[in-house]
Amino acid sequence: MTELELIIDLHKNSERQGPGSEHDTLRALGLLNLPTDQNLKVADIGCGSGGQTITLAKNLNAHITAVDLFPEFLNELNEKSQQLGFNGKVVTLEKSMDDLPFKQNAFDLIWSEGAIYNIGFENGLKKWKNYLKVGGYLAVSEITWITPSRPKEIEEFWKAEYPEVDIASNKIKQLENNGYSLTGYFYLSQDSWMETFYKPMQARFETFLERNGHSELARKVVEDHQAEIDLYLQFKDYFSYGFYIAQKKVEHWAKSYKERAANNEHQ
Ligand SMILES: C[S@@+](CC[C@H](N)C(=O)[O-])C[C@H]1O[C@@H](n2cnc3c(N)ncnc32)[C@H](O)[C@@H]1O
Repeated sequence: MTELELIIDLHKNSERQGPGSEHDTLRALGLLNLPTDQNLKVADIGCGSGGQTITLAKNLNAHITAVDLFPEFLNELNEKSQQLGFNGKVVTLEKSMDDLPFKQNAFDLIWSEGAIYNIGFENGLKKWKNYLKVGGYLAVSEITWITPSRPKEIEEFWKAEYPEVDIASNKIKQLENNGYSLTGYFYLSQDSWMETFYKPMQARFETFLERNGHSELARKVVEDHQAEIDLYLQFKDYFSYGFYIAQKKVEHWAKSYKERAANNEHQ
């Protein structure tokens, strides 16, 4: 197996592939004001094995398109949906989030937990806005500094891993500058990293190694993930995921020339 195949293997058969929890998904849902008398169109992008997709399906009157790049995760979600009787309500789509086949203004809600970083926050905001109806909502979680300054080690680590890492006020500015208006945001708690993501992952290390014959590459995958956990434990007071909920604004016909130039919109 390649390293990527091993990483997928480690993350299979787990509730979540990133920090988050049912509590967080419900808290974010509580910040939306969507009509309850209509069947909503929802996309869950970078859904993984669909921990949050199932919570959305349980709590929304909606048709949900759950997108991920990897069929291994989507197969798990399909199984779960079938067991829960959601197979018409949740449909999976194997596609890259930067190449989606969606129509313009198609969705009431675009959801994405711990995944937009794959194409970059601002790039994702711009691309996905096209698929949202005016007044539709975007709910995304994104790595965010939670203090105004940080130790150099963690600052440098995240800047190298993900240069878009920033404080919440700058993430909110990006939302506002790209045609959204913020409805609310919160940070994921430390339990949403440790209890629902890292500890269950650590509990899978041994069976993962056995399944893969304790190969050198499998051991490297475990060591890398353990190093990520150690780094989190050392610097957990400085960063988390911010969960941002925002609404697509009405486009104003009278945009100034300056605004158009800043957004690279040519007439
Ligand atoms: C950190 S995981 C989060 C998964 C899930 N939302 C959760 O919170 O448990 C990121 C997900 O993005 C998916 N992914 C990575 N690159 C992608 C891409 N280009 N298009 C679609 N999905 C992608 C991964 O397969 C993975 O399931």
